[in-house]
Amino acid sequence: MTPLLSVQGLGVYTTAGGARPILRDVSFDVAPGETLGIVGESGSGKTSLALALLGLLPSGLRAEGRVLFEGRDLGLLDARARRDLRGRRLAMVFQEPFTALNPRMRVGAQVAEVATAHGERNARRAAHDAVEMLGHVGITEPEDRAQRLPHQLSGGERQRVLLAMALLLQPALLIADEPTSALDVTVQAQVLELLRERQRESAMALLLISHDAAVVAGSCARTLVLHEGRIVEDAPTRQLFTAPQHPHTVALLAAAQPLGSRT
Ligand SMILES: Nc1ncnc2c1ncn2[C@@H]1O[C@H](COP(=O)(O)OP(=O)(O)O)[C@@H](O)[C@H]1O
Ligand SMILES: [Mg+2]
Repeated sequence: MTPLLSVQGLGVYTTAGGARPILRDVSFDVAPGETLGIVGESGSGKTSLALALLGLLPSGLRAEGRVLFEGRDLGLLDARARRDLRGRRLAMVFQEPFTALNPRMRVGAQVAEVATAHGERNARRAAHDAVEMLGHVGITEPEDRAQRLPHQLSGGERQRVLLAMALLLQPALLIADEPTSALDVTVQAQVLELLRERQRESAMALLLISHDAAVVAGSCARTLVLHEGRIVEDAPTRQLFTAPQHPHTVALLAAAQPLGSRT
């Protein structure tokens, strides 16, 4: 099968103070509908990888290599074509739900804006679909919540709003960078279950990124381990847990505990 996403020799380097490598020679494919986990300790380059895939690296970093999405080389797209792809075919949720939301805009309107910005819905239809999606991602009383500002929601609800924004246009691939790290354990498990559920319904592929191997363990058939900007392991998740090949993987697994057993 043609991969949905093909990452070929991706490198990320700092531009100032000598070209310090952040990511080196990262290559992997994601098939349509596949869930791929990426784990690595803090500072291993996970967020830089996610941002490089989306063409959103901050100004001090530059990328090399190729990223093909649905057969198109993302590096060759102009800014407008890339913006059009993001949110529609390729969506991302970040770790910090507070910083990713506009504090002065009602959350229903923020979700609806994803659709109107891409010219996919008229305002009325977008508002309706936004409330419906808030319900799909497990927000109770979505009509009421849609009228609130971000600070009037719980942390778990805010993360669900971001998911609703990401899922609204049924992207082919969702990149989720530590989507549950800011949440307490119960809500973490709920959000992960929700992602699995949405995936079953829409055949969306998911790149699930976490410093915590337990987060990917329950969701991903295959997992990559990132260490100091390199992939040190790429294996079926079960194999990774039962027979880790790299000493660094052993250390990561030792730090992870099953989601249910944490306090
Ligand atoms: N804008 C930047 N300029 C320079 N170095 C950066 C920048 N962003 C991240 N880094 C460095 O890149 C490395 C990887 O960071 P990051 O991708 O955030 O890792 P992770 O998400 O795995 O914690 C770290 O050493 C970090 O300090
Ligand atoms: Mg990160």
